[in-house]
Amino acid sequence: MPTIFGMYPVFLRLTGKRVLVVGAGPVAARRVHGLLAEGAQVVVVAPEVDEDFAPGAEIHRRQFTGSDLDGVWLVQACGPAEVNVRVATLARDLGIWCVDAADAQQSDAWTGSLITGPDGVAIAVSGGGDPGRARLLQTELTRALSEIDLRPTRGGPGAVALVGAGPGDPDLLTVRARDLLAAADVVVADRLAPLAALELTHGRILHVGKTPGDHTVEQADINEILVAEAQAGNRVVRLKGGDPFVLGRGGEELMACLAAGIDVEVVPGITSAVAVPAAAGIPVTHRGMATGFLVATAHGEDPALAAHLAAIPPEITIVLLMGVRSLPMMVEVLLSTRDPQTPTAIVERGWTPEQRTISATLSTVVRVAAEADVRAPSIVVIGAVAALHEQLGDVARVSPAAGLIAD
Ligand SMILES: C[S@@+](CC[C@H](N)C(=O)[O-])C[C@H]1O[C@@H](n2cnc3c(N)ncnc32)[C@H](O)[C@@H]1O
Repeated sequence: MPTIFGMYPVFLRLTGKRVLVVGAGPVAARRVHGLLAEGAQVVVVAPEVDEDFAPGAEIHRRQFTGSDLDGVWLVQACGPAEVNVRVATLARDLGIWCVDAADAQQSDAWTGSLITGPDGVAIAVSGGGDPGRARLLQTELTRALSEIDLRPTRGGPGAVALVGAGPGDPDLLTVRARDLLAAADVVVADRLAPLAALELTHGRILHVGKTPGDHTVEQADINEILVAEAQAGNRVVRLKGGDPFVLGRGGEELMACLAAGIDVEVVPGITSAVAVPAAAGIPVTHRGMATGFLVATAHGEDPALAAHLAAIPPEITIVLLMGVRSLPMMVEVLLSTRDPQTPTAIVERGWTPEQRTISATLSTVVRVAAEADVRAPSIVVIGAVAALHEQLGDVARVSPAAGLIAD
């Protein structure tokens, strides 16, 4: 079905091709300038042409004659209306495309306003015969184009992006993460990234997520996959839960890529260490309660780490990741220095529809967590701020699409 204009958009390769411009006014000057820039062989015919009108064009100071159309591929009729009609009629008879600059409705061809981006990206717009609208579109689209990630999606050498995907809600993905997913050839995905993030890619998906205690794909193997896929020319997104550099082994992956000479970038994500307590109404710092916070892994059930944490002053909030299994040991060591009444909260599956928070004290949390059958992934918050959950409640607006790849 034809559009309301009945005009078919096309880009012409005019390099070295003869193009006739009839007229030498401001419109003709703009057209000549654009045609010369694309390498066309421009012939200008007009009774009066300024000396410096178009260096590089062939100028004929006289009236248009029919023989001017010999060997011409395209005509820009920019003269007086009656001349344009004659030019356009003769051109049509000869099967030559002619733009009548004075009469868009009668013209067989229009010249679009061109907006260019990197690497041959181009938008040609028509204002529907209204040059003012075309200019407005040109301004607005130029601005919009500058905000789009226009790096090539195909070809060229491969690259790796270490992308933090946040704690589970796709609405918390960064714009950069979305752009990279859209352009990816391969996505190497963790278990704790948002499931809905995978809908943003057309790339091949490799699941390499580790469950607690079951490192099915070893870190060294993941590093190798990233390097091998990039070396095969693929744009690889390494999709990681939270932030890639917060207990995410992103540093090791970065080193492996750099060592192999791979083009690699890091895209920070919203870390669960801060975002999951926040979702439960727990700010990790709060005036009069906590002057700082410490994020640590509880993975490995390491009593030496617990002893270090026991030495942390009570006004520093302790945020433990991977702490479900080692909770009894951690709490036992912490109780050697900390007040047993220290508020302690566990936030399970933050930023998912199943988010739940267990409120306790340091002395009761092991029992309360066991009774509630708390499971990973969970964040343990130890410090005065943990009590704020009971006062402030759940404050996250979790989107319906939230959920983890692990589910
Ligand atoms: C290997 S660490 C990765 C942390 C991640 N790089 C980050 O910045 O959030 C995995 C741990 O993060 C925590 N975690 C990640 N997502 C979570 C969520 N949605 N709810 C609760 N805890 C989460 C859990 O403690 C989990 O065991």
